[in-house]
Amino acid sequence: MIGKIYGTGSSLPKRIVSNDDLAKIVDTNDTWIRERTGVARRRIIKEETTVSMATEAAQKALEQSGIAAEEVDLILVSTISSEVILPCTACEVQKNIKAVNAAAFDINAACAGFLFGYNTAQAYIAAGMAKTVLVIGSESLSNLVNWKDRSTCILFGDGAGAAVLKAEKGKLLPSVSHSDGKKGEALTCLSRHRKGSPARTRDLQAYMQMDGQSVFKFAVKKVPKAVKEVLEEAGLKADDIDYFILHQANRRIVEAVAKRLKTDIEKFPMNLEEYGNTSSASIPILLDEMNRKGKFVKRQKIILAGFGAGLSWGAALLEW
Ligand code: UT7
Repeated sequence: MIGKIYGTGSSLPKRIVSNDDLAKIVDTNDTWIRERTGVARRRIIKEETTVSMATEAAQKALEQSGIAAEEVDLILVSTISSEVILPCTACEVQKNIKAVNAAAFDINAACAGFLFGYNTAQAYIAAGMAKTVLVIGSESLSNLVNWKDRSTCILFGDGAGAAVLKAEKGKLLPSVSHSDGKKGEALTCLSRHRKGSPARTRDLQAYMQMDGQSVFKFAVKKVPKAVKEVLEEAGLKADDIDYFILHQANRRIVEAVAKRLKTDIEKFPMNLEEYGNTSSASIPILLDEMNRKGKFVKRQKIILAGFGAGLSWGAALLEW
């Protein structure tokens, strides 16, 4: 059995924060941010939460699919930014959408999270352990960002995206998931709840810290490799793929991956100009945008690829 995407949805905070807005709080400017990252603005939560955005994205995906919430038997939420540790975001979504027959749990794989969630959903479906799975990426990264650190605060944004997968007859398509914990220090965020930390340092440690150049080099090297692994297993060439939906971290990373795969950049849609890097939400938000614009045609081949903290990365082939 294979999981087919029956519907997608997304949810974005109403508040828009431009590069010029950020230039008022840190020493930066619109030109630097656009040239180095491709980001022009991002959405930042006000009333919204990781749970509320995940719920809205899930509801929209279900609505589009025509599948009732009671049919869902598994909910996977990828997030690094839930407001509480317990209960997990997936259980909150289950409650909100009344998916009374679903098991629900969260996945922490940062910007590779949606991809890992998608692969987990396919594995459950292939094993006959689930028939209908909601995979969601939802992030309130603005809660984890140090708004005094110009090297990170300009990159990130908030939002959520979801896809509902339903089992159909068919062979599981190739996918790969990788991690390299030895390189974990390149992108860290310590817990706000660490025992024994004095309150002041505890607050400082709770922010995301990143060696941007290491992460950049890692992404540019590992993503094309993961895509090639998937292509090889499928017996396909990059030219056979209609779209590459990459995690939206930086325009220069997406361009470098396209170049290494010797593939037209037109096949690499981007929306990071509008939303910045929304970690595990970026792939499903882009999927939903493309889907709702009617860009996908039945049987088209799409490769999803995620990468980020852990370090973790992976890719998956899907047929629309
Ligand atoms: O989601 C997955 C996780 N994250 C990523 O994928 C991010 C990967 N990394 C990147 O996207 C890039 O490394 C960044 C966008 C974070 C940084 O771009 P860079 O080209 O690697 O810049 P840099 O860190 O080498 O900094 C270049 C200069 C420095 O000044 P000096 O030392 O050359 O005088 C920085 O201090 O730019 C300065 N700088 C800034 N200037 C204006 C750093 N941040 C800013 C800023 N505005 N916001």
